[in-house]
Amino acid sequence: MFRLAVFVSGGGTNLQALIDRIADNSLRDIEICCVIASKYHTGAQQRAEKAGIDCMVVNRKDFNSQEAYDEALLTSLADKNIDLIVLAGFMSLLGSRFVRMYENKIINIHPSLIPAFCGHGLYGIRPHRAALEYGVKVSGATVHYVDEEYDTGPIILQKAVEVKSGDTPETLQLRIMQEAEQIILPQAVALIAAGRVRISGRQTYIIGGEIK
Ligand code: GRF
Repeated sequence: MFRLAVFVSGGGTNLQALIDRIADNSLRDIEICCVIASKYHTGAQQRAEKAGIDCMVVNRKDFNSQEAYDEALLTSLADKNIDLIVLAGFMSLLGSRFVRMYENKIINIHPSLIPAFCGHGLYGIRPHRAALEYGVKVSGATVHYVDEEYDTGPIILQKAVEVKSGDTPETLQLRIMQEAEQIILPQAVALIAAGRVRISGRQTYIIGGEIK
């Protein structure tokens, strides 16, 4: 079994996509061993509990340094033999010690076509607001490996979504969630679990044929 830990902070729609793909057998031989929330009372936590998945809160505000938070997260994952950490709407930064301990084993879903509208402070609804303010005609979502900065690791998958006239940040966010995020995150997990993603510097390569 390929063992996932999913880190969350919000509504959990991306976590739910993984739960649903495992339930409908689109994702095979993959299990979510635990969900870790960076704050209390999230929708993601309720989704995990409803799915019978072990969910812990490691509340970022309870720690006065990045190092202490990293240590608490590492302790929470100890002896769980996690193969991949998925940041699914996770709003906290992971420090260099944590990222090094799980080098090339952490992926993140970001709601824009990186390198556009990403980086520190551009999360949640903000990338969509920035995309509309800029006037782009296409936005989308990106799954990438996590390194020690915000949204800068090697890109694994991207999916474009048309910006429609009259879009608000909210309507664009919903369309990107439904038409991009919830498709490419499970796809990326499946590819990594199957050993089909190779990293070379900033590039990644998908081997073994088409992406299903
Ligand atoms: C999503 O747009 C995700 O891309 C971003 O946070 C938003 C909420 O995610 N990182 P979720 O509903 O908590 O999965």
